[in-house]
This record gives sequence, structure tokens and C-alpha cells, in this order.
Amino acid sequence: MRVLSVVGARPNFMKLAPVDRALARRGDIEHVIVHTGQHYDPAMSDAFFAELRIPRPQHHLGVGSGSHAAQTAAVMQRLEPVLEQLRPHLVFVYGDVNSTLAAALVGAKLGLRVGHVEAGLRSGDWTMPEEINRVLTDRLSDLLFAPSREAVDNLLHEGIPVQRIYFAGNVMIDSLVAMLPAARALDAPARYGVAPGSYLVATLHRPSNVDDAGTLRGLLEALEALGAETPIIFPVHPRTRERIQCLQLGSPVANVRFLEPLGYLETLSLVASAGLVITDSGGLQEETTYLGVPCLTVRPNTERPITCHLGTNRLVPAQRDAILAAARDGAETRARPRVPIERWDGRAAERIVQVVCEAKRFD
Ligand code: UD1
Repeated sequence: MRVLSVVGARPNFMKLAPVDRALARRGDIEHVIVHTGQHYDPAMSDAFFAELRIPRPQHHLGVGSGSHAAQTAAVMQRLEPVLEQLRPHLVFVYGDVNSTLAAALVGAKLGLRVGHVEAGLRSGDWTMPEEINRVLTDRLSDLLFAPSREAVDNLLHEGIPVQRIYFAGNVMIDSLVAMLPAARALDAPARYGVAPGSYLVATLHRPSNVDDAGTLRGLLEALEALGAETPIIFPVHPRTRERIQCLQLGSPVANVRFLEPLGYLETLSLVASAGLVITDSGGLQEETTYLGVPCLTVRPNTERPITCHLGTNRLVPAQRDAILAAARDGAETRARPRVPIERWDGRAAERIVQVVCEAKRFD
């Protein structure tokens, strides 16, 4: 059986890694990896392949950056001949980035079976490009692998036939479980001179937070104020770096340690021992919940509400004072015990492969 995975952007890679490993363990499956090139900086891509021990992609489409239409169209044009030539039995797409939707569309139109890993997440916020990608990718997919029961319910409410939906669990947590011992051994906090539990990790990259100068300025002010009390480590996404440069701040932001984007292990090592995480990332909401680390998500909504109901996540508006108040109020979240979430157990990829190879059902 030939299975093909299409990935392109940073959050895809930690979802691909456990699926690749689970496929490799079977021994009777040819797994072809296609990298669209949506993310291309070594720190945003190669570093993750190396750390997560993902084999080199057999095909690299070299798409790069562009407007949503240009990027999505370029993936489609360059992927189509690859899929036509290889005619895989199944095309796996991951998450909600532009490469995900583009690949699902090409696969579906060629009559190939499409499997969506991380199906059914919904923020209800149609202004988010990722929400459009999620809804359309799910509509185009034949096999929908949901990370939570909430995600299953979202799909059922949209009229997706139940026999297409599999509650496989969370593949992000598969990677976390596999890599946590190595991440802890790395002891990144010591490397950055901060004591466990006494520092804050910040990441911001969503267009809604960084593209508007006023919003970004307010967020940096909040971090500057918090940094006067607690060390802050802020690995900066290229989009955010560019926007910060555009602000032409008179003086550098004090009290915040800006870093280049970090690899998976170093990020996990820092996050696992952080006192608080302030982010707009999707993955970090889940990782902090699993780790029991308090998290403030700077967004009006989330496609991962389970991290708020059962986990350590709390939504906070992109406003200086709201963030300061929520961060100082963190003790309440910190005291909450960790609740294990169903099928966030390190075995989601194994279930996905059982569905594909043995037609198993996971309801
Ligand atoms: C994309 C995803 C987002 C995900 C994020 C993780 C979409 C719609 N968005 O957003 O869901 O959370 O990845 O990182 O697919 N750039 C570089 N080097 C790179 C990649 C990007 O410098 O390797 C810069 C370019 O200026 C580019 C900008 O970042 O224009 C945005 O990149 P893009 O892939 O369009 O979206 P992200 O903001 O990374």
C-alpha cells in the first residue's frame, strides 16, 4: 500500500512524525512525504525534521510565501502532477494551514482518498484563515481523524457521515510524549539562566495579533510590564519579527528576551518548566494542558475549547491591561490539578494506522 503525506508548515511536522513512525512499524507500507515549502527557513522546517527524526521528503514543491490565493494555488499546481504520477491509496493532510486545504482539494479532485489528521476543530471564527481551511478540508476528506469528542460532535453537526469519523486522539500529544524525556534532559531553562516555574514563555504570530500596529504595540507593552516582575523568553516567528521591525520602536522592548524561532525540543523543554505561557498558538494550548502549565491564549475564541474546560488554558483579549490582570491572576489556574484527556495518550497515530490498514473503528 502506498500512502502519501503532504506537509508544509511548522505545526504540520509534529503531527506527521508519529504517523510516519506508526506506518514504518508496519513494514508493508510505502510512505511518501511531500513538503510544499510553505515554511522554508531552516529554523521553521529542517530543524523539526531532524529533531523529530522524520525522513527527508521525497518531493519538495518549493512554494514559499505569498498571498493566500497565490500560496494555495501554487501548492495545488505543483502537487497535482506528483499525485497523478504516484496515485497513492491515501493522501494524509494535517492540521489547518494553507498547504492542508490545497492538498485536500487536489487529492479529492483526482478521486484519491483523503485522510485529515486533526479533523473537526472549529473556532466558529470565519475571519481566521485556518477556520476556512479546517471546514473545507473536512468537507473534502474521506477519513476524518478527530483529536477529541468535541471535534467528533462538530463534524456530526455539520452532517458529515458518522462512518467517516474516527476518534483517534491527539497526534500532537504523541510527539510530546515521545520527546518529553529528551526535552527535559536538554534542560533549556538552565541554558537560558532561568529557574523552573519562575519564568514566562511568550509566542505570538497570528495576523489578528501582529499585523495591526496598535494591537502589537499593546501586546509588547504588556510583556514589557510583566517582564519587570518575571523573566520572559519570546521565540519570535518571522512574521512577527517583520512586524516588530515595522513598528520602528524608539527604544528596544525592555525586560523581554527575544530569540530566533526555537526547535521542537528546546521549546518543549522551556514550556514544560514555565510558570506561565502567553501565546496565540494552537499547539501550545494543547501542550500546556497536557503538561499542566498555565496558559493564556491571546484570542477571542479557540478551536480547542477542551483546553479551557479541562485544561489550563484561558482566553484573554489582545489588550495590555487584560493580559496583565490575567497573568497576575495565574495562581488560580496553577493550583488546578491536571485532568487526563481521553485519547491524549501518545497512541493516536497507532490508531490512525489501524484504521487505514485494518479498517478498525474508533468511536
Ligand atoms: C502559518 C499558518 C498558521 C500557523 C503558522 C505556524 C496558514 C494560513 N497559516 O502562518 O496557521 O499557525 O504557519 O507558523 O497556513 N516566513 C518566513 N520564513 C518561513 C515562513 C514564513 O520568513 O519559513 C514569513 C514570510 O514573511 C511569510 C510570513 O512569514 O510571508 C507568513 O508565512 P505564512 O506561511 O504565509 O503564514 P504563517 O504566519 O507562518
